[in-house]
Amino acid sequence: MFAQVKTVAFDGIEARSVDVQVQISPGAPAFMVVGLPDKAVAESRERVRAAMHAVGLALPAKHITVNLAPADLPKEGSHYDLPIVLAMMACMGAMPFDQLQAYCVIGELALDGSISMVPGALPAAIGANSRDLGLICPYDCGPEAAWAAQDMDLLAPRHLLELMNHFKGLQILSRPEPEAAIERTDLPDLCDVRGQESARRALEVAAAGGHNLLMTGPPGSGKSMLAARLPSILPDLGAAEMLEVSMIRSLAGELAGGQVGRARPFRAPHHSASMAALVGGGVRPRPGEVALAHMGVLFLDELPEFTSAVLDSLRQPLETGQVVIARANHRISYPSRIQLVAAMNPCKCGRAFEPGFACSRGAHCAERYQSRISGPLLDRFDLQIEVPAVSPQDLMSAGESESSKLVRERVTLARERQVERFKGMGLVQFRTNTELSGVALEECTKLEKEASNLLRDACEKLRLTARGYHRTLKVARTLADLDNEEGIRRLHIAEALSYRGEAMRKALVM
Ligand SMILES: Nc1ncnc2c1ncn2[C@@H]1O[C@H](COP(=O)(O)OP(=O)(O)OP(=O)(O)O)[C@@H](O)[C@H]1O
Ligand SMILES: [Mg+2]
Repeated sequence: MFAQVKTVAFDGIEARSVDVQVQISPGAPAFMVVGLPDKAVAESRERVRAAMHAVGLALPAKHITVNLAPADLPKEGSHYDLPIVLAMMACMGAMPFDQLQAYCVIGELALDGSISMVPGALPAAIGANSRDLGLICPYDCGPEAAWAAQDMDLLAPRHLLELMNHFKGLQILSRPEPEAAIERTDLPDLCDVRGQESARRALEVAAAGGHNLLMTGPPGSGKSMLAARLPSILPDLGAAEMLEVSMIRSLAGELAGGQVGRARPFRAPHHSASMAALVGGGVRPRPGEVALAHMGVLFLDELPEFTSAVLDSLRQPLETGQVVIARANHRISYPSRIQLVAAMNPCKCGRAFEPGFACSRGAHCAERYQSRISGPLLDRFDLQIEVPAVSPQDLMSAGESESSKLVRERVTLARERQVERFKGMGLVQFRTNTELSGVALEECTKLEKEASNLLRDACEKLRLTARGYHRTLKVARTLADLDNEEGIRRLHIAEALSYRGEAMRKALVM
């Protein structure tokens, strides 16, 4: 006797097709699972046995072999329980084999036969839909899977019995409905930040061009506060982007209740985070903070407090937009087009910027503190700004600040201009100015004569590196986009040059 049911194995955010094949043959009673199962899959034998008992079926006292094909693809996780039990029941004639062929199946079994939630229902549903299959998933995963496609055949039973009754025609399972997308309402607003005009401007420029931003300043100057307000001025996620972000969250088990949101992700891992937490991996590969921040913001507060190995592991995803976890037997990659925002104090006590302040730790305190961040990582911040302290008097006298809504309108317009330009030039792989490189950068950044002269002078006087030169051009492009101008003017170059991290250098010579 033989039966087969389709399921999936996750390879990054991609759901690869896996067949669960069951054969019951005469011989000494045994129950074997083969096909590179991990511990959770191998243990599914006991759950399958108990769940079948709960619905009044006993495993036949024969030789039972479960094969997960293709045999060379590692199978991880507990979502294989349900396909195994359904294939087993189909093999015994307790489930209609033909009807099951139209579905991909995922779900974990409890000992009483109820079906528990598993991560990855959304990517599984998208994968199944692309192969013209329906999906059978746990009840709690239904609203999440329903996002995949409107007309897809979806069954989300709570218990194995419900599924048996559905196929017998005794009880019809209704299709789960997707939860409405959450509108952004409770994001912190930029109007809470008083004064700090130049830092607010830098935040707007960073949002408009997708630039990485590094803020340096004394304690309590509002750096963390500013960073937390970045999502409120970023444009909403598009429909395709929302699905991609949700797929990663689904794999990380963070999409409980199928609540999909339009706001861009904002992830702020603590500085004690390990490399596995940040880039992903661990015993069972799952997306890390970098992948969870895909299409949104990764905020590293107190940057020098992160271990240098963890920080340098960010260089590759920042460059390629992909985070790759290499294992002995396979590689997994997750998309990670992130905008990196970091905040730090200039030195251990944080007061190196203060006029007339002489640090008791000596002149090398700031140098030692800042040297924890490698040059190549520092180079990836297009905007490096100083956030000076604000006194209570400043707070009291500062007028009302502009709200996030107004800033977001300008940012959205600037982003639309970039996308239009990229489309017009056939550069559809780019979305924001910060991604520009090589010939595309040259084509997009036509300088007016005066601007060109200023940049040439600055290159000589400030000894700009090639990367510094390109960084200035990209930021100037964004500044011109915010002004709705095609040509880059002297003013734009001058402002772009002001974001070169003078604060850091100033602290070092003090
Ligand atoms: N510009 C500002 N407008 C209004 N409140 C401010 C401003 N700057 C700081 N504050 C107040 O100071 C508090 C501390 O700000 P925040 O945590 O952002 O500082 P920080 O620069 O991140 O400091 P640290 O370096 O210690 O992390 C805020 O919660 C807020 O109450
Ligand atoms: Mg802070």
